[in-house]
Amino acid sequence: MKTVHVADAWRASLAEQGLSELQDWWHLSTDWVEPPNFRRGGWSGVSRLRVPGPDGAETLLYVKRQAGQRRRTLTSGGRARPTYFQDFLALSTFRDCPRVQWVFFAEDDDRAVLVTRAPDGFVDLGTFAARVEPARLFAGLIAVTAALSALHRRRIQHGACYPEHILIDPETLRVRLLDYERWRYRWSVTAAAHADLDQLLRRAPFLDTRGRDTLLRTARLYAPRLTLTAPPAPQRVFHHA
Ligand SMILES: Nc1ncnc2c1ncn2[C@@H]1O[C@H](COP(=O)(O)OP(=O)(O)O)[C@@H](O)[C@H]1O
Ligand SMILES: [Mg+2]
Repeated sequence: MKTVHVADAWRASLAEQGLSELQDWWHLSTDWVEPPNFRRGGWSGVSRLRVPGPDGAETLLYVKRQAGQRRRTLTSGGRARPTYFQDFLALSTFRDCPRVQWVFFAEDDDRAVLVTRAPDGFVDLGTFAARVEPARLFAGLIAVTAALSALHRRRIQHGACYPEHILIDPETLRVRLLDYERWRYRWSVTAAAHADLDQLLRRAPFLDTRGRDTLLRTARLYAPRLTLTAPPAPQRVFHHA
């Protein structure tokens, strides 16, 4: 399977940079954001690149490269496609769901490249929690749950609902989600909400009981049947001298 998708707004600037084909991105330097992962018999890695955007201003892009990591899904017509295809599908079609902007996607048999734009000024949920006052964190958590509700109301489970995949603008509290590789439809709103919030709470040791409660109470506004109880916040260990 061979496909190339370029976001309309980016077509001219990418062409100018010589970044119109999978091959062009494939040969960029590999200053990986985190060590590449070797799973499913292949590998994938994420790096960053600064290029002039459609408005000419320098823009930060995240470049995901992958080889030999495929998955068969209903949405790929039962065919094994690179797992980044599933992410691209969500980013390009989930119109009303908060998500990072996609810039480029290409697939060539075993390889795939997916490029997204880093939203200016946004930080991940863990960074946000460490940086703001409790009242602001409280408001931010409501904004995060409202963002998740856009997926859950459509019975979509994000599937990798980790703090590092949730970006928030500390000024406006707007939220964008990323890494939709594992999204799937669930049979109910409750099931989608339960799975994602359970995952998030387990991965967010920085939230105290009030923070955990805020997420769950807000989620019950759109998923009243949600019976999930927050896993306890990890105990702080005090070392006495
Ligand atoms: N568009 C983006 N904006 C900001 N950060 C991003 C973006 N895309 C990826 N990242 C960062 O890179 C990390 C790895 O990207 P991710 O899409 O999660 O790849 P992987 O499939 O390898 O987990 C994310 O956890 C996040 O910190
Ligand atoms: Mg990830």
